Amino acid sequence: MPGILNLASIDLSIASVLEDQLDEVAVILERQLATDLSAVNALCRHVEQYRGKRLRPILVLLSGLTTGGPPWDATGLTEKHRVVAAVVEMIHMATLVHDDVLDEAQIRRGVATLNYLRGNETAVMLGDYLISNAFALCSSLGDPAINSSLGAVTNTLCEGELLQLHHRDDLDLDEETYFEIVRRKTASLIGECCRLGSILSDGGPAARDAMCRFGNLLGTAFQIQDDVLDITGDEAIVGKSLRRDLDSGKVTLPLIRYLAAADRAERTEVRRLFAQGRAEKLRLRLIEGSAVQDARAEAQRLVDQAKAELSALPTGAARDLLSTLADAVISRRF
Ligand code: FPP
Ligand code: MG
Repeated sequence: MPGILNLASIDLSIASVLEDQLDEVAVILERQLATDLSAVNALCRHVEQYRGKRLRPILVLLSGLTTGGPPWDATGLTEKHRVVAAVVEMIHMATLVHDDVLDEAQIRRGVATLNYLRGNETAVMLGDYLISNAFALCSSLGDPAINSSLGAVTNTLCEGELLQLHHRDDLDLDEETYFEIVRRKTASLIGECCRLGSILSDGGPAARDAMCRFGNLLGTAFQIQDDVLDITGDEAIVGKSLRRDLDSGKVTLPLIRYLAAADRAERTEVRRLFAQGRAEKLRLRLIEGSAVQDARAEAQRLVDQAKAELSALPTGAARDLLSTLADAVISRRF
């Protein structure tokens, strides 16, 4: 399964450094999840297939490499970077397993979701098992500040999901609240990946803060693209259940922008379609108008701002790759 960066297409030795490091991260993750119970191991093997884009571990490693400066080889990274990369991936896997229960999703990364295959009880418990293992692994670093900051981030993720649930079916959801949900449920973890990668490379406060802002801006753009793909994407390419947001009363940026530009009659019509659960009709309206393009343009603006933050970091191959990664977040089709 390809990651978000097509490493084979990057003609730089840093690509092979990253690929080797990601292999080591995968070993750490698998070792942590291995138990003496084959029934549990089988469930873990299943959700390990969700590790598609590897965005979060890549960001820990690349932020570390960028902040640390040349020569951008494996000597610029420590075991701590790799363990943190495994921890954030495990946290992310836990959130996906729980999110699929909430969304009643059937497909994730091209395979059947655990809730679909084994039911909600097993999926909820496996999500708990993953989050518990993530913090057990994190504790092995003996660095309470990392446990504490990641604990704060998992609190924030849950707050984002709870705020989103609070606004289910709320066609009056404003942009400010939408961005608050996105900041909490998605951008917070992505920002923390960049912050921790930088801290572990001793880059100092200016680099750390720039990396954190880069990650938060990128994470917000990532979620907007996710919301756009839910409306426009092809399930076979994206590899997960789509068209869920409108179906489940989740109001996202394209719909907010559409409503803001609509006249009174059109707003009434949208409310009628929404209340009647006519999601497909609504979806076609969003695609035909400029709402989806508007949301894409917003994501592009955020990516441009994120890339501007990189100017505070040492120039070179690792920083260039972060910039390529930022573009990939919104050009992706999966
Ligand atoms: C994806 O949203 C969901 C998230 C980014 C966060 C999910 C977080 C939780 C369910 C809280 C659980 C927290 C812990 C600590 C286990 P989406 O539904 O828009 O994306 P999708 O299209 O990938 O499903
Ligand atoms: Mg979901």
